[in-house]
Parts: sequence; structure tokens; C-alpha cells
Amino acid sequence: MFDSHVAVWDDQPVTSDISPLTTDGHSSSGEHGRPALPASHPLSDGRTSDSALILAAEGRPVPHTPVWFMRQAGRSLPEYRALREGHTMLETCFNPDLTVEITLQPVRRHGVDAAIFFSDIVVPIKAIGIDVEIAPGVGPVIAEPFRTSKDVDRLRNLEPDDVAPVIAAVAALASELGSTPLIGFVGAPFTVASYLVEGRPSRDHVHTKALMLSDPTTWNRLLDRIASICGDFLSMQVQAGASAVQLFDSWAGALSARDYERSVLPHSRKVFDAVAQYETPRIHFGVGTSELLALMQSAGANVMGVDFRLPLSTAIKRLNHPTPLQGNLDPAALFADWHAVSESVLRVLGDAQGLPGHIFNLGHGVPPDTDPDVLTRVVDLVHRETAR
Ligand code: CP3
Repeated sequence: MFDSHVAVWDDQPVTSDISPLTTDGHSSSGEHGRPALPASHPLSDGRTSDSALILAAEGRPVPHTPVWFMRQAGRSLPEYRALREGHTMLETCFNPDLTVEITLQPVRRHGVDAAIFFSDIVVPIKAIGIDVEIAPGVGPVIAEPFRTSKDVDRLRNLEPDDVAPVIAAVAALASELGSTPLIGFVGAPFTVASYLVEGRPSRDHVHTKALMLSDPTTWNRLLDRIASICGDFLSMQVQAGASAVQLFDSWAGALSARDYERSVLPHSRKVFDAVAQYETPRIHFGVGTSELLALMQSAGANVMGVDFRLPLSTAIKRLNHPTPLQGNLDPAALFADWHAVSESVLRVLGDAQGLPGHIFNLGHGVPPDTDPDVLTRVVDLVHRETAR
């Protein structure tokens, strides 16, 4: 029953439940304000409010389909590898000059329609003093994994001073980027909890699920603490100048719908609730979450990220109500010959016809050994094919 809601791309605002549409159907941008944001915020003063990304996320008519790539800042770029030399990943995340430069690199090189803040999902955890490192080629490693109720007490509140250099980088980026929106992000409580409990990346999440099933009190306390920390961190990013946010629940696809709904969804909702007042687009993304899309949407997202397993035209039918979608080229397709790459890109654009809005992205992050020239060509192709 979503047909009556589906917008015409060119000249009609959507009527579905996508904030921030005001009662007259127009976005509440510019002088009409997003009251919770400072007047100097790029969405308030109009710098990013009419960018292709924000227009698409709000279901408004776009000049072209906006494109950005998850993990666009990173090892696929030689200029990133050069800058990272001699700095650990987390050192880099707390260094504003490096963070700003790395975030800008893919915007300059590829002409993408948004910057994603260069950081990591464990940054707020590190900021409150938890001993975590990012091991090259592995991912986050926690010195003392969280397994008991007492461990949860190690998660104190996040204070602005804990992340002052990180938030300074957000503010600097918002001014450097001009009309290009900055996307802020945090990890969702389940995905962050999985790292805390397992102590390192895990395929089967056995300790995490065991805690969830056997000690719901401790589990809920753990996820609630993470949700507070991540919600506060995301809110600070928005206040400092992020124009959209994405909640990464990368490993939620490991859960059944029942477990997700009972044990995870309320905590992800708490993170989105922390930023709902700002009326920025709220994107929710997970991997292998085809069966969870409607539940993930109900956490408070107004844009749904879709991985490469489901065509966008199928994904939209699985939602509670239609919203703009983000996705979903298979990252592996970037390694095919250009003819196949372009066919795959066109297939995604074809699947996106008739959506209330579309933000082109991959179905997961850019693989480290991707040829960056292919990414630039994909951006050009999407822009050319969708120019109107
Ligand atoms: O360009 C961007 O998307 C912004 C940067 C970004 C990073 N991590 C940088 C990074 C973002 C959005 C993240 C989020 C993140 N971190 C997620 C959610 C997104 C996803 O991919 O599912 C997760 C699960 C993590 C945890 C994490 N951090 C992993 C699994 C890894 C990979 C380990 C490796 O070396 O392969 C990291 C490290 C990491 N985060 C790198 C980057 C660029 C690589 C570190 C390096 O360059 O040495």
C-alpha cells in the first residue's frame, strides 16, 4: 500500500512520513529554521539545505541523484595512506588536522555529494577511557572484554571535553565544506556492544548473544549505556555542523527479527531520539538486514540504507511506509571491468525509479584495494545519468 505515497521525482513533494516536512509540504530549511540548531549551522543558514543529498533525503526534487560511499575516506586512496604513515588509526581520529584533511580527500578527488566524517565507531568508547585499539587488518580490539554486570559500570557518560578535538574537526569541516553536507555517524548499540563483549571482530557473536539471552538485565544496561554515549556524541556532531547522520548497525544482520525487536531496537531508538529534535536526515544502515528493514526503520530513521542483497525496488515494499533509500551497489562489482561496473550502476538506478528519494551508495564500505579511479567514474556516471 505504498503507491499512493510514492512521490514523482521532479515536481511533487512526498506525502509520506519524512521529517522535516512542514504542514505545507515544504522543508523547514533556511529562515524557517530548524529551531534546535544554532543559526550558524549549515542547515540553518541555507548552505547545505538545498544540496542534492539533503533534497534526496527529504524526498524533494533533486538536480541529480546524490552519491557518496561508505568508507570513501580510507585505504583506497594513496593520499590517505601517505597521511596515515606513522599514526595509529585512533591517534588519527583524535587529531583534528588529520581528520579534516582525510575527510576532505574523497570529496576533492571524486566530487561526491557528501563528506562522511572520518572517525570510527569505537571513538566515543576510547574517549571515556576504555582501552581499545584498532589493529590494522583486524579492527577494534578491547583489552578487557565486557562480560559481567560490573563491567557495565566502566561505561561512564561522555562529556564534551572527552571529544573536544573530534568535535573541533566537525566544526572545521562544516566551514571548509561550504555547500557539501557533512554526514556525522555513530555505531549502533548492538554493533558497538559486539566489539565490547567479544573483545574483537566476530563472525558469530556468540558471547554477545549469550549475554543478551541469559542476562537481559545486564544486556539492557549495557546497551542503554552505549546508547547514551553514542546519542550524546551524535548530538554533539550535529550541533557542531553535521547536516545528516547515519547510524551504523553493521552486525545487526546476525540477529533474528524477534531478538532485534526485543533486545536491540529500543536502544537504537534512543540514539535516534537524541538527534530527532534537529530534523536532520537520519540514515539507518546494516549489513544482511533484509529481514529487519521495517524494524530498523521504526527505530526512528527517515532514510533507510540497504545493502547489496536486495534490489531497492523490493526493499521499499518491506518498509512500514516509504522513505528515501540509500544504496546499494555491491562493492565487489567495483572490481569488474568497466562495462560490467556501469551495467551494475545502471541496474541500481533502474531499481531506484519511483522511490520517494534515492542516495546512491555501495551496499557496504569501499574495499581497501579498490581502484579509486573507478569510484570517480561511478560518481560521474550517476550524475550524468540522473541529471535533470
Ligand atoms: O569513509 C568513511 O566511511 C568514514 C570512516 C569510517 C571508518 N570506520 C574508518 C576506518 C567509518 C564510517 C567507520 C565505521 C566503522 N568502524 C564501522 C561501521 C561501518 C562498517 O564498515 O560496517 C565498523 C564496523 C567499524 C569497526 C572497524 N574499524 C573495522 C571493522 C575496521 C577495519 C579493520 C581493517 O583494518 O580492515 C576498522 C578500522 C577502520 N575504520 C579503518 C578506517 C579507514 C581502517 C584503518 C586503517 O586505515 O588502518
